Amino acid sequence: MESTPGSIASRRKFLRYLALSPALASPLLMRRSLHSVLASNAAPTPPDTLPSPKPITSADQALDVMEFEPLAREALPPAHFAYLATGVDDDATVRLNHEAYQHIQIRSRRLINVEKLDTSVQLFGTTWETPIFLCPVSAMKAFHPDAEVGVARAAAKKRHLQILSTVASSSVEEVTAARGAPVWQQLYPTNDWAVTRAIIKRAEAAGSPALVFTVDLHENSNRETIQRGRRIDDRDCSACHESGFAAYVRRKPMFDGLDVSHVTGLYAPNFTWDFVKRLKDATRMKLLIKGIVTREDAEIALTHGVDGIVVSNHGGRAEESLRPTIDCLPEVVAAVKGKIPVLVDGGIRRGTDIFKALALGATAVGFGRPQGWGLAAFGQSGVEAVLQIFRRELETVMRQAGTPSIRDITKASVISAAS
Ligand SMILES: Cc1cc2nc3c(=O)[nH]c(=O)nc-3n(C[C@H](O)[C@H](O)[C@H](O)COP(=O)(O)O)c2cc1C
Repeated sequence: MESTPGSIASRRKFLRYLALSPALASPLLMRRSLHSVLASNAAPTPPDTLPSPKPITSADQALDVMEFEPLAREALPPAHFAYLATGVDDDATVRLNHEAYQHIQIRSRRLINVEKLDTSVQLFGTTWETPIFLCPVSAMKAFHPDAEVGVARAAAKKRHLQILSTVASSSVEEVTAARGAPVWQQLYPTNDWAVTRAIIKRAEAAGSPALVFTVDLHENSNRETIQRGRRIDDRDCSACHESGFAAYVRRKPMFDGLDVSHVTGLYAPNFTWDFVKRLKDATRMKLLIKGIVTREDAEIALTHGVDGIVVSNHGGRAEESLRPTIDCLPEVVAAVKGKIPVLVDGGIRRGTDIFKALALGATAVGFGRPQGWGLAAFGQSGVEAVLQIFRRELETVMRQAGTPSIRDITKASVISAAS
C-alpha cells in the first residue's frame, strides 16, 4: 500500500498514542517494535474512540506501573535513564523476562468466596502483608535525590520488604532509619575479604536479618544501551563522578572508612562454593544467594546450608542468556523441594506476573526497574504508587482466579509450558 504524507503523519500520531497508552506502553515490549513499525509502511488500525491521552501529572493518576517509564525517560538525563534501562548485548533477555509471562495462562476457578483475601507470606518467621518485595537497585541518586531513602520511606508506608544494594547511594543506617525497620542487605563481596567482612558486620549492626549474596554478575558485562546513552548525554559527568573503579567504590557509603586500596572488583572471578561456606561462617544473618537459575546450582546451594534462593538474571543485565527467570523458576523449585524459600525477580510488571510466579512456586516476587521509574517520575510517591498498583493488581487477579489466599495459588492456577 502507498503511504501519503498525511497517512504517515496520522500513523505516527497513532503510534505515539500507543506509546503513551497504559495498556500498551510497556517499553520493554513496545520500544523496539514501535521503532520498527515507525520505520516501516505497515498501517495499523487507528483507534476510533479515544483521543490522545495527556501525560499524568501525579503518581496517583497512573493506571499501571509501565506508565512511569516514559515519565522517567523524560525526567532523567539520557545516561541515567540508560543506566536504569540497560541490559547486555541486544537487551533481549530484559525483554524476554517480561514477555515470557505472556505465554502463561491463568486457570480461573468460579464460585469461590473471595470476599476476604489473604495476601500474606512468611519469610524466615516474619509475616509480610504481600509477597511483593523491592529488589536491590544500585546508585539510586541517579534517579532522584532521595535515592534509596525515598524508596525506604515508600516501603515503610506500604509495609514491604526492601533489599539494599551494597553500592547504593545511601547507607544501611540511613535506609534502616527511613524504613523504620531493618532491611535485607545485598552483598557484592569484592575481592578483598577484609572489606567483605566489614560490610557484613555493618549490616548486622544495623539489624539486617538477611544477607543476599549476588552471584550472577562478573565484571565487564556488555552493556551497550548504557554506552549509547552516555554518547548522547552532553553533560560533563566528571562534575559528579570521577571515572575509575577506585573512585566509584569510594563514592559508595557502604565503603566509607574502609581501606579499598586492594579492591579491584565487586565480585571476584575465582569465587566458588567455598566462599559461600566462608560467608555462612562469618555471619548470623540468613544467607540467600541471588542469581541462581538452574536445578544443579539450587541443589549445591542446599548442601551448603544456604537459607534462601533468589532466581534472578540481574534483570537481564549480566549475560544475554535469553532465558527468562520465570522459565528457570520451576526447575529451581523442584530441586529445593520446599526446604528453603525461593524468591524470583525479572520482568515483573503486572499483578498477573506476580500471580504466575507464585503459581510456579515462588515464595516472594521482586521488581527492580519500576522502582527507578516511579522514583524518577515522582520521588517517594512514585514508588508508593508502584507498590500500590502491584498490590491492587495482585488482589484483582486473586479474586478473579478464585484464590483467596496465597497458598491457594498453585500449579493448577496456570497453564505453562514449564509447569
Ligand atoms: C539500575 C539497576 C541496578 C541494579 N543494581 C543491583 C545491585 O546493586 N545488586 C543486585 O543484586 N542487583 C541489582 N540489580 C538487579 C535487580 O536487583 C533485579 O534483579 C532486577 O532489576 C529485576 O529485574 P527488573 O528490573 O526487570 O524488575 C539492579 C537492577 C537495575 C535495573
